[in-house]
Amino acid sequence: MKNIEIVGYGMAKAGKVVTNDDLAKIVDTSHEWISTRTGIVERRFCDENESANTLAVKAASEALKSSGIAADQIAVCICATVSSEYVTPSMACVVQRNLGLREDIPVLDVNAACSGFIYGLEVARGLLNGNGGEYGLVVGCEQLSRLLDMTDRSTCVLFGDGAGAVIVRLSEDAPYEKVLGARGGYEITVEGAGPVVSHVHMEGQEVFKFATATIPKCIEELQGKSGVSLDDVDQIICHQANARIIDHCIRKMKADSSKFYKNMDKYGNTSAASIPMALCEMVSEGKVIPGNKLILVGFGGGLTWAGVLIRFGGTK
Ligand code: UT7
Repeated sequence: MKNIEIVGYGMAKAGKVVTNDDLAKIVDTSHEWISTRTGIVERRFCDENESANTLAVKAASEALKSSGIAADQIAVCICATVSSEYVTPSMACVVQRNLGLREDIPVLDVNAACSGFIYGLEVARGLLNGNGGEYGLVVGCEQLSRLLDMTDRSTCVLFGDGAGAVIVRLSEDAPYEKVLGARGGYEITVEGAGPVVSHVHMEGQEVFKFATATIPKCIEELQGKSGVSLDDVDQIICHQANARIIDHCIRKMKADSSKFYKNMDKYGNTSAASIPMALCEMVSEGKVIPGNKLILVGFGGGLTWAGVLIRFGGTK
């Protein structure tokens, strides 16, 4: 089985900026509580002309453009999401149509909550290896604002909308390793389609404990399986749920904090979108450059977890 590396990237920010002070006018909360407990200062919600699908298409188009490859070279299209606009057609089918991707390729959504983007990378790798083709498109996209109970202060202040996408290429020699798992837990739930209104519910403290145990475990497992030490990894991009979770893991692992990016201050927790959005910003800011080895770590609803060691191969 061949490995994959990242050769294109793109992101889409939602149009409406919602600050902590804006939310303090709706629920009993404060900028002080939200920023000190989570690191979140503002998040973005889709405006009236946007949806999960429009964000996914935008991020995917940007990723394709940056890769320099043609749409008909894409041999698999995966969208990781828990907030697709429709149950069917899938978000991935909407992206396929809008980008003019081929019809004879696998196109599907993946639901592994906040671990979904990394699950999506591994699904793309498996399908490219099994089904043929060289390039895959993997999108992480959420419109969580649709699923928020705006009377529940324990969840509505945490989440935001956004999308990030990458183009991956099969590679013989790129370093690659992965860890995927799930526990089957109800600590984070969202009701499915039906008569009950879908809302995010979360046992925050339980998930916090799970996250701070899971991130170091994933990173250690990746190091063990790949033989690549943390010193040889250029950047570590964790799911952007809470700055305190990342800081806790840095302390626990006695790791170099400059290798752990954070941008939840601007976007809140965007679930499956948070890791590819962070990657895009890091490339744009010159913090990730071609040839860099990255560790990506996701954790969340399911309870799922996923980690990957992957190379950013650069774009054409
Ligand atoms: O993406 C999926 C993964 N999700 C996560 O990783 C989330 C993990 N969990 C967390 O990040 C944290 O648990 C939260 C940020 C969700 C909550 O922080 P916490 O420090 O665990 O707070 P808590 O739930 O223990 O609540 C502490 C207090 C409570 O009041 P009392 O009982 O001490 O009087 C809450 O009612 O804070 C109260 N509270 C709030 N106060 C002001 C809860 N939400 C708010 C709020 N504003 N928005």
